[in-house]
Amino acid sequence: MPDPTQVLRSPGADPEVAVPSNPCVMLIFGASGDLTKRLLVPSIYNLACDGLLAENFAVLGTANNVWTDEAFREYLTTEIKKFHTRKEFDQGVWDKLVQKFHYVSGSFTEQKVYAELKTRMTTLDDKFGCQGNKLFYFAVAPKFFGTLCDNLHNNGFKEGDGWKRIIVEKPFGTDLASALKLNREVLANWQENQIYRVDHYLGKETVQNLLAFRFANGMFEPLWNKNYIDNIQFNVSESVDVEGRGGYYDHSGVLRDMMQNHMFQMLSYLCMEVPGSFEPDAIRDEKAKLLQSVRRYTPEEVARYVVRGQYGPSQSKPGYREEKDVNPQSKTETYAAARFAIDNWRWEGVPIYLRSGKALWKRGTEIVVEFKKAPAVIFKGTPVTELGANRLVFHIQPYQGIEIQFAAKTPGPAMRLQPVHMKFGYGDAFRGSRYTGYEVMIYSASRGDATLFSRGDLVEAAWQVAQPIVDHWAATPADFPNYVRSTWGPKAAAELIAKDGRRWHEVVTEDVLKQSALFRDGDPVFMDQVIMALEPLQAYGGEIVIQKGDPGAEMYVIEQGEIEVLDDAGKVIKVLTDGDVFGEVGVLTSAPRNATCRAKSPTDLYRLNKSDFSRILRDNPNFATAIRQVAKDRFNLDVKTESLTKPD
Ligand code: BG6
Repeated sequence: MPDPTQVLRSPGADPEVAVPSNPCVMLIFGASGDLTKRLLVPSIYNLACDGLLAENFAVLGTANNVWTDEAFREYLTTEIKKFHTRKEFDQGVWDKLVQKFHYVSGSFTEQKVYAELKTRMTTLDDKFGCQGNKLFYFAVAPKFFGTLCDNLHNNGFKEGDGWKRIIVEKPFGTDLASALKLNREVLANWQENQIYRVDHYLGKETVQNLLAFRFANGMFEPLWNKNYIDNIQFNVSESVDVEGRGGYYDHSGVLRDMMQNHMFQMLSYLCMEVPGSFEPDAIRDEKAKLLQSVRRYTPEEVARYVVRGQYGPSQSKPGYREEKDVNPQSKTETYAAARFAIDNWRWEGVPIYLRSGKALWKRGTEIVVEFKKAPAVIFKGTPVTELGANRLVFHIQPYQGIEIQFAAKTPGPAMRLQPVHMKFGYGDAFRGSRYTGYEVMIYSASRGDATLFSRGDLVEAAWQVAQPIVDHWAATPADFPNYVRSTWGPKAAAELIAKDGRRWHEVVTEDVLKQSALFRDGDPVFMDQVIMALEPLQAYGGEIVIQKGDPGAEMYVIEQGEIEVLDDAGKVIKVLTDGDVFGEVGVLTSAPRNATCRAKSPTDLYRLNKSDFSRILRDNPNFATAIRQVAKDRFNLDVKTESLTKPD
């Protein structure tokens, strides 16, 4: 589905001054398929609505369905109502646009259809004044890309005036060998500058903005290196499962489906060297160079730095292995987390962490750039004991924005610090129309701008990095499933980063916090304080989180899972679940823990350490009252107001 949250108007901020696409006849192979109705046609429609589509434009669709032009138009007219992304559907624009759509029935694997396609393209070119320009869109399975390229070449589609360009959909290869083969096939009769390989992440405004952010602002680039940056985290969490695409996904997995393409694109934008200009190849040279500098792992390094996961069932939904069209013994990973290294002058020694998975607790794509900490020595003799790291967070989706996290002094006579943030939200700064992300692809390809498309060498470099992981995983057994649906993923991922003394930066949203009655009625200041202070933590089933008698240095909120509270004999006296808090009493009273708490199943938690907890209690009397009530209800304990508010 087009992403309803995207705020996009890529090809020019102001349609009145933006130049429309170049005239062309666009030939879509796979015109009766999903991509055409869900993304391509809504994108062409958006371009038309915003005055960005050339008047001299026509579409010729082809597929096996036996349709006339009229039947094709009727089909599209029904589908566009479902898939357009605008607030209001503009019937006038559509009625005019739909007349530009035409259709030829037939199989593109058979030679006979090409004569008819060619004749129709020529007729449409004459009728619509397209100057001989031809845009071919391969919305078909990758195994046909080579055949299509050959057939177009052999049937004379490259002849005549005007440009000829091909847009190919992903995936581009399923491993290094197949990507090399595909590049050879596609380039046998076509030039690299005629091939536009789609990666729809490059169509996202927030991804494109990484370049504007880095290169249009003087204050960040000087810091953009190993001297100032401690680590970078890329996170693409999806709450959806394989959504009925088991047949495809079981031969893919998250490494191929998300990391090798979409995430490596973001990685190269964020970490590449400064290009000499905004010319497509100046940017693509730097992207390819960056990926060529990513270390290719040995099997031992894969085992050490990359973890994989597969979701198991939840109470109400099947695990991956029970999904339709999935092998019941499947070793396909639906989750992966990795630590990569970039061996160049800028990034040597800076860990680059990537993680992505399906059926996770929330949907969210973020890039977190964590800076090195300031030395705390200057705060000696003040209540400040430790300084946090500054972070720059790129919120790619669904929330779109950029955030800087830093420390500020809390109001009052003492020098105390609180983590705070400055945020820029796209929705606050721009009035954008919602786009699907494909508009800019069609528009740019028509204008010969390949910036947003993958060049062959980049695709190959990305496979060079992924291939050792593919090979190692194929050769070793997988202990699957290893995470439960709707959780933060396998604990091995948390351990991977914990080994380096770091943690994943989870983006906590108000909706998540509001699951807990304690936080539900909080005002914006309170919510903000809590969100900035929470640290994510995972516990295995059976793992002790709090041991009776230990000092209470932190409290916990259960994101999801179950925590058993045990009496002295080890008997379970209570089971706490999603949204419940525990560990607060020890922190409140500074007394040793009065009970042991153990995870019953794999559990995702937030930890709030004592100094943040005390500060939040001091600042928020309502929260202090609610916490006092929890202590009363659970342990019949009367916590004095002073103990809640006394400075730590
Ligand atoms: C596609 C993958 O390329 O990207 C899907 O095949 C994935 O499995 C999707 O869900 C994610 O795209 P987006 O734009 O929703 O982040």
